[in-house]
Amino acid sequence: MCGIIGVVGGDRALATILEGLARLEYRGYDSAGVALQSGNELWSARAADGTRSVEALVERCTNAPANMTVGIGHTRWATHGNPTEVNAHPHLDCGNRIGLIHNGIIENHSELREHLQSLGHGFRSATDTEVMVHLMEEELKIDGDLVQATRRMLPQLRGAFAVAIISADHPNQVVAARRVSPLIVGSRDDVSFLGSDIPALMGHVDEVYAIEEDHVVDLRPGTISVTDLEGNTVHVEPVTITWDIEVAEKGGFKDFMTKEIHEQPEAIAATLADRTRDGFVALDELDLDEEDLRTIDKVVIIGCGSSYHAGLVGKFAIEAWGKLPTEVDIASEFRYRDAIFDASTLVVGVSQSGETIDTLEAIKKAKKSGSKVIAVSNIVGASMTREADGTIYTRAGLEVSVASTKTVLAQVVALELLALRLAELRGTRSAEEIAEAMADLQALPAALTQLVDASEGPEAIADAVGDAQDFFFLGRHLGFPVALEGALKLKEISYLRAEGYPAGELKHGPIALIEPGVVVVAIVLSGPMAEKMYSNIAEVKARGATVICVAEDSDHIVDSLADYVLRIPDVAELVAPVLAMVPLQQLAYAIAQAKGFDVDRPRNLAKTVTVE
Ligand code: G6P
Repeated sequence: MCGIIGVVGGDRALATILEGLARLEYRGYDSAGVALQSGNELWSARAADGTRSVEALVERCTNAPANMTVGIGHTRWATHGNPTEVNAHPHLDCGNRIGLIHNGIIENHSELREHLQSLGHGFRSATDTEVMVHLMEEELKIDGDLVQATRRMLPQLRGAFAVAIISADHPNQVVAARRVSPLIVGSRDDVSFLGSDIPALMGHVDEVYAIEEDHVVDLRPGTISVTDLEGNTVHVEPVTITWDIEVAEKGGFKDFMTKEIHEQPEAIAATLADRTRDGFVALDELDLDEEDLRTIDKVVIIGCGSSYHAGLVGKFAIEAWGKLPTEVDIASEFRYRDAIFDASTLVVGVSQSGETIDTLEAIKKAKKSGSKVIAVSNIVGASMTREADGTIYTRAGLEVSVASTKTVLAQVVALELLALRLAELRGTRSAEEIAEAMADLQALPAALTQLVDASEGPEAIADAVGDAQDFFFLGRHLGFPVALEGALKLKEISYLRAEGYPAGELKHGPIALIEPGVVVVAIVLSGPMAEKMYSNIAEVKARGATVICVAEDSDHIVDSLADYVLRIPDVAELVAPVLAMVPLQQLAYAIAQAKGFDVDRPRNLAKTVTVE
């Protein structure tokens, strides 16, 4: 998820772009860049300096030629290729005449790159984006028309994109288009603007036009025309900007946690994008020798907090699909015990930040012992990804709120992709079974969309149980990691005592604490454990607990057992935890809201924990 901005006309193009990029940093900031055009010249600058990338870009732009009237700018959140200057946007064609910025993922970039290389195009970056600028170079050879060339390029692309293009040979023009990723445009007087979202355009226009998929926008000074792929003019209704900057950065949501909960369908779709090729599971960044993966005899997954919970779900998938013994350990424990692992062990460090000190040190320890190490990270180029032999990236975009939401879901999906790859290499599942499991994963974004829009259920329950002090989250099998994650969310943002327990352990202790006033949240996923969960619910109900169930739509038994039911759509067993975590995020959120707590910045917690 990157931020993009473009300006045509006026005499403040560069200043407008740099101000806009500073406001778009919440979309990502690992590198930034700008390309400017005037007369028949193109000038560009890029910077990759971590959280200081936009500032570093501003410094570089002190050398920019004056009076450039056209420009595009980008702030990047890396998905394909490390956050380096060479991978920063804008990308340029072979002759440095065309500049292009992109937000999204081009799924068929590998095949397009191969084709373009066979035509003689030289690539400079490791990004998926760069294929587009070389495609434009090819298409412009036909008639030299920037809009027509864009129209011819779009059908060649698979995936998600908002793209903006300028060319040294096309003065006073920016052409843009989108599919899936958002793009808005607007104009005032003799200047036109484009952006990935409203903060880019705030203060410049009062009204914006939201561009539809596969429409092409031709921006000229003060005028904008929108056409479809056939060249027909499209009418777009303007929308008046009523947000202030703070609301705009949160996409109109009250806080980042709500925004990030709503971004979960997109985060999962992005993590799944481009993961099959020629019928095989494709994990491009993994970069591990296939023979090494084939010959491992054990997997150890390590993480902290929510990442540990994602690992617990991953264990089920690796055991079920890859038929490999799998241990999951808390990184701070693993580091200091005499764990048994060797060169035939695959160690997987799970961390959204890729920087958590305990997980980082744990994977270093594993590597020293000769184990193969994989990092699962949301941050391209993070310390763990540099330490590991290979990486699987979750592509959830920047997560600002301290409590993980979209990143933990994406970690589960990444681990399940790894499980499928292991199953494929080891021949423990047939091609049909793997395709079926892939289809189950692909069903998640639509099911998540349904879920994230339904916050009323959790809100009503929060009103009813918000005064309780003690919460037990119970689950079995795949429901157990969900119970742990639900309890953690509640603790983190609502400051309530919340314990996650395997429901089978209820009788070995926790049941002694069950009495009226205690709330039990029971995760009932379909499968052999559902009946056992019904019994556990009956046991706590009999002792006076208030029971909230998370259950699939088809489960009607819970209606007669629980006080409240939070519904999730029916999906395949191994992917159900991804959905079941969502109502628990919403419940924790609703309780914290009712108590007036700052959900994005809970007390005593930090997003990235780089100290022991
Ligand atoms: C902190 C965060 C948690 C996160 C954990 C592990 O405690 O508040 O949300 O799950 O660190 O972080 P990591 O970056 O390694 O996933």
